[in-house]
Amino acid sequence: MENRNIRSALTGCFSALGLAVVMATSSCSTSDKAQELPNKLALMANEAQIDSLISLMTLEEKINMLHGSSSFTSGGVERLGIPELTMSDGPHGVRPEHGRDWSFDNAGNDSATYLPTGIALAATWNPDLGYEYGAVLGSEAKARGKDVMLGPGINIMRTPLNGRNFEYLSEDPYLVSQLVVGYIKGVQDQGIAACVKHFAANNQEIKRAEVNVEMSERALRELYLPGFKAAVEEGGVLTVMGAYNRFRGQYATHNEYLVNKILKGEWGFKGLVMSDWGAVQNTMEAALYGNDIEMGTDLLQMPNIDYSKFLMADTLLSLVKSGQVDEKLIDDKVRRILRVMYSTNMINGSRTEGALSTRAHQQTALKVAEEALVLLKNEGNLLPLNKSTVKSIAVIGANATRKQAMGGGSSQVRAPYEVTPLEGIKRVAGSGVAVTYAPGFEVTRQEKANQQLIDEAVNAAKGAEVVVYVGGWTHGYTDSWDGGAFDAEGADKPNMDLPFAQDQLLDAVLKANPRTVVVLIGGGPLDMTQWVNRTSSIVQAWYPGMEGGTAIARVLFGEVNPSGKLPVTYPKKLQDSPAHALGEYPGDKDTLNVEYREDIFVGYRYHDTYKVAPQFGFGHGLSYTTFGYSNLKAAKNADGVGVTITLKNTGKAAGAEVVQLYVKDTEAAVKRPEKELKSFSKVFLKPGESKEVSFTLPKEAFQYFDEAKMQWVLEPGNFTIMAGSSSQDIRQQAEIGL
Ligand code: BGC
Repeated sequence: MENRNIRSALTGCFSALGLAVVMATSSCSTSDKAQELPNKLALMANEAQIDSLISLMTLEEKINMLHGSSSFTSGGVERLGIPELTMSDGPHGVRPEHGRDWSFDNAGNDSATYLPTGIALAATWNPDLGYEYGAVLGSEAKARGKDVMLGPGINIMRTPLNGRNFEYLSEDPYLVSQLVVGYIKGVQDQGIAACVKHFAANNQEIKRAEVNVEMSERALRELYLPGFKAAVEEGGVLTVMGAYNRFRGQYATHNEYLVNKILKGEWGFKGLVMSDWGAVQNTMEAALYGNDIEMGTDLLQMPNIDYSKFLMADTLLSLVKSGQVDEKLIDDKVRRILRVMYSTNMINGSRTEGALSTRAHQQTALKVAEEALVLLKNEGNLLPLNKSTVKSIAVIGANATRKQAMGGGSSQVRAPYEVTPLEGIKRVAGSGVAVTYAPGFEVTRQEKANQQLIDEAVNAAKGAEVVVYVGGWTHGYTDSWDGGAFDAEGADKPNMDLPFAQDQLLDAVLKANPRTVVVLIGGGPLDMTQWVNRTSSIVQAWYPGMEGGTAIARVLFGEVNPSGKLPVTYPKKLQDSPAHALGEYPGDKDTLNVEYREDIFVGYRYHDTYKVAPQFGFGHGLSYTTFGYSNLKAAKNADGVGVTITLKNTGKAAGAEVVQLYVKDTEAAVKRPEKELKSFSKVFLKPGESKEVSFTLPKEAFQYFDEAKMQWVLEPGNFTIMAGSSSQDIRQQAEIGL
């Protein structure tokens, strides 16, 4: 709020300087254009104004805009009414307020809606929800006086161990692309800039600022870049965050190939690139290779950071003064920042009001959580629980009472409330069901089984008709943001095993009461081999946000029919996962190189092609009803290949199915995956209802990236189009010659 007042005061300076033309341009025409030309940022109308503004600036003033001026701002030019740019994490809620010197100066008064994290959003397979999710973030960022929301995070889930998989979306570039566009538009339609991160190849947290990623051009183009490309070309994202790691020998945030050649060159990105916090390593490279704003340098000096010592501050100034860096490069960076300011109404124009933590926003959190939950297994239909017949439930597991909003690193959110699984179950079960609770395990660094807790859990399990076990990962060992090794920034998981000796606990609980439903919290796959075959029902609940407990309970009791699908493969064992089976992870300890030798065979592309059966395949997720697929037809049309299929709800409950279309190139000059996701549609049907579902597969759906030609090619020949309920459950297929 304070920000906005300062801004309007500063905007007045334009008139004083005789820049009436800047003030007169209507912000309305700007946003109309924005819809027509997302990738051009619709800023062309302002280009002349931006140029005239730049012509008024001294070199010192320009340089001042290119680096941090506090923890989450970059510099403005007060004399000209150019405000500071204010940023906030991201990506699933507006982060608690930091003072300029990183202190928590506003603690207690800076809560925000805590949405389910990225992996949960992706598990909905519902791009419309991506938009709603982004709209909540944009509105709340605006209410908190921010200009840039530091999200979405979209790095590909290369290994199950990555500590930030919970923030990211998927192993599949198509699914990422579909969700990222909605998210960005949702944020930016609120007049706030989104920031897609971390560009690029930041696929592990171990030594994230030191490793050098080596991968083939084909893997880069087919897997690691499409989400970013969609963010720019379809989402019209205004800002991009450069990653910490090196890529082919050069730091990603000032990487000539990634930033200049591809992002700003091939894709025509007109917005700004900011570094991740502390990611700029070299002034000359930052100047030359496209980093526009340097953030977060010298964090170790906190709270006494000297911003003039940033690599893009005094050092850059002297390089320009001595003629080693052309001032035109500086102007280009300033121009990009000003474009973002114009398109978010920071200069010239006014913002609409945002809203913080409203009931409507909390309902979005609930809706996303409900659609995100994945029913992995339901043998014997133990689920849904029936309130009128089940009289007693033992809830077991420390995650049933653990709040997660403030964990995980920079994505922490101070939620006004968080419904835990235990609270949700008690509320939804109502007074007719006796609910007991036993924690069963402790979240400690020692990870030893606590026999007393196990005994108590066993007693509770024996005394109840049904057990709901709530375990899995948590954000680390402690409540602090960087509290440990699980699902937290700055660290990868040490292995894929269920932590805190939960295998031992589950073994005892399953023996005591086989009517046990396992609910897993966490950011992705874990090794279930010790108990999966003895467990009839398993629900993957992710980090489901502030209404997570409600969503879990509503799914358990059948008030919501689960419709989530896995956005990532669940291998049986870590060694079955391609980065570990074929590739390099966490990298060579001397050279710090990480070679992505598994190449394009990430996730199901590997499991299906190399015939390594997963525990649960990509796209898997059950429902309380059943769906029949029939009548798949594929025919060439002007736009590519038109596909139709009839989907019928053949069970007794209303529900949604995600119809997934995969494509296989039957003979190809290069090795291609057994199948690749190229379209999907989430369809809601009442019992007995059927619907013809239509898709268009554009030519891109059949192409691969040819490294010799350095371009996408469509090789003539036959392709198989597969429609299924998951990558492992293909129901219909058709051949087409192209
Ligand atoms: C994270 C970013 C985050 C930034 C600012 C970095 O450590 O990698 O995702 O946006 O900090 O908090």
